[in-house]
Amino acid sequence: MTDPLPAGGMDASWCRWVACFVASPARLLDKIAAVIRPGGVAIFHEYIEYDTL
Ligand SMILES: C[S@@+](CC[C@H](N)C(=O)[O-])C[C@H]1O[C@@H](n2cnc3c(N)ncnc32)[C@H](O)[C@@H]1O
Repeated sequence: MTDPLPAGGMDASWCRWVACFVASPARLLDKIAAVIRPGGVAIFHEYIEYDTL
């Protein structure tokens, strides 16, 4: 959450089971958005109901 992400211009990101742990999901979103190219895709895979595992 404090280190820079390694590169920009990504086509897509897949963030699985992280957003629910961080202190600021909004900051996480901002950081990911900053390294995805315009028109790229950010996928978030989170578990709200652990029974769905
Ligand atoms: C349940 S694991 C999921 C790991 C992996 N993404 C997966 O899908 O198997 C949660 C991950 O969130 C990371 N994490 C939690 N809080 C974090 C933070 N503040 N900054 C960076 N990573 C964090 C942990 O290090 C851990 O790797």
